[in-house]
Amino acid sequence: PTSTPLINLHNFEAAAADVLPRMVYDYYAGGANDEVALGAAHAAWNDITLRYRVLRDVSERSQRTEVLGHTLDWPVFVAPMAFQQLAHADGEVATAMAAEATGAGMILSTLSNRTIEAVRAGTSGPLWFQLYIYRDRGVTAELVRRAERAGCTALVLAVDAPLLGRRERDLLNGLHLPPDVPVPNLGVTLRDTLAADRDVTGSQISALAEFFDRHWDPSIAWRDLAWLRSITTLPILVKGVVRGDDAVLAIEHGAAGVIVSNHGGRQLDTAIPTARALPGVADALRGRGTVLVDGGIRRGTDVIKALAMGAQAVLLGRPVLWGLAVNGQPGAKQVLQLLKDECDLALALAGCRTPAEVTADLIA
Ligand code: FNR
Repeated sequence: PTSTPLINLHNFEAAAADVLPRMVYDYYAGGANDEVALGAAHAAWNDITLRYRVLRDVSERSQRTEVLGHTLDWPVFVAPMAFQQLAHADGEVATAMAAEATGAGMILSTLSNRTIEAVRAGTSGPLWFQLYIYRDRGVTAELVRRAERAGCTALVLAVDAPLLGRRERDLLNGLHLPPDVPVPNLGVTLRDTLAADRDVTGSQISALAEFFDRHWDPSIAWRDLAWLRSITTLPILVKGVVRGDDAVLAIEHGAAGVIVSNHGGRQLDTAIPTARALPGVADALRGRGTVLVDGGIRRGTDVIKALAMGAQAVLLGRPVLWGLAVNGQPGAKQVLQLLKDECDLALALAGCRTPAEVTADLIA
C-alpha cells in the first residue's frame, strides 16, 4: 500500500521503494560503482531540446510502429530484466501481459523467474528472448532452441557484460535469491550459486557476481556472434552497443540490428549516455538495420527524441519493475499506459501525427 500519487513514472519508483525489501529495491534501482552513468541517463534526454512544428492538424494520430516485422501499437518494448518475481509473485508473466495490454513488445531476460514457455503461453504479443553466451556453448545453443520452439521471434544478445559490473549496493546487501525464486531457464548446474541455499546476507558477496564469474564467458568476441548467427534463423539484435563502428561490425557479423544501451548504468560506470550515443550509431548504420535504444527513458518526450535521432523504438526498463512491485500486472500496465499517453501528447505537441513524421529536424 502506498500513499504516493501515481501520475508519472518517477512516482512509481518512490512507491516501489516503499513496498520492496531493501535488497530488491537496491538491485533494481542500482548501478555500477559511483552510479555516474545511472544518474546521467535521464538527464541526457532532458538536455536535448525539441524544435517542434505548429499548425499541423494533429487531431488524428497513431503511434503504430513496425519493428522487425511486428506491428506495435506504440514504439516500446519492455527491456529484458532479470528476476521479476522479486517484484511480484506473477513475475515475467505479469509483465508480458502488461506489455501486450498496451500493444508494446516484451523482451524476456535469460535470468527470468518464469520459463520462456510459460511467458509465451500467457501472452500473444511480440516476445523476444535475451541471451548471454555461456562458457558452455551447449547450454547456450539449447537455450536458443528453446526460445525458437517456444515461439520467440528474435534473439537479443547482450554484449555489454563480459564480466559483471561492480554493483556496490548488491555487495553490501549480499544479493541473493530466496529459495522459492527459481531461475528455470538455466540448468541445475548453472543456477546453483544463485539459488543460494546458503545465506549471504551481510557477507558482501553478491550471488549474481559469483554466478557471472563461474558461468559467463569473458572471451566472447565478434566470432561468437557469427557462431550464434550460424545456429539460428531468428533475427539477432546486439544489445549494449554505443559506437557506430561496433554497430557496423554487428551488422557485418549477421545481426539484424542493435540496441544502443549501457545496461542502465549497471556495467561500465561513466559510460556515455545513450541519448548521446544514439546519433553516432544511427549515422553509421544509415538504415542498414534496426536501431533501438534504452536507458533513462521516463517521459514521452524522451521517446520521440529517440525516434527523431534514428531509433525505430525504445526499451523501457526499471519503471516497469516499479509498476509490477506496486500492483502486479495492473501496475506494470499503468506505467506503460502513462508513458504511452505521454508519447501521444508529445507527438501532437511536436506537430506530428505518426512516428514517421518524427524527423531529425525536430532536434534543436
Ligand atoms: C537489467 N538489464 C538487463 N539487460 C539484459 O540484457 N539482461 C538482463 O538480464 C538484464 N537484467 C536487468 C535487471 C535489472 C534489475 C535492470 C534494472 C536492468 C538492463 C536492461 O535491459 C536495460 O538495458 C536498462 O534497464 C534500461 O535502462 P532503464 O530504462 O532501466 O533506465
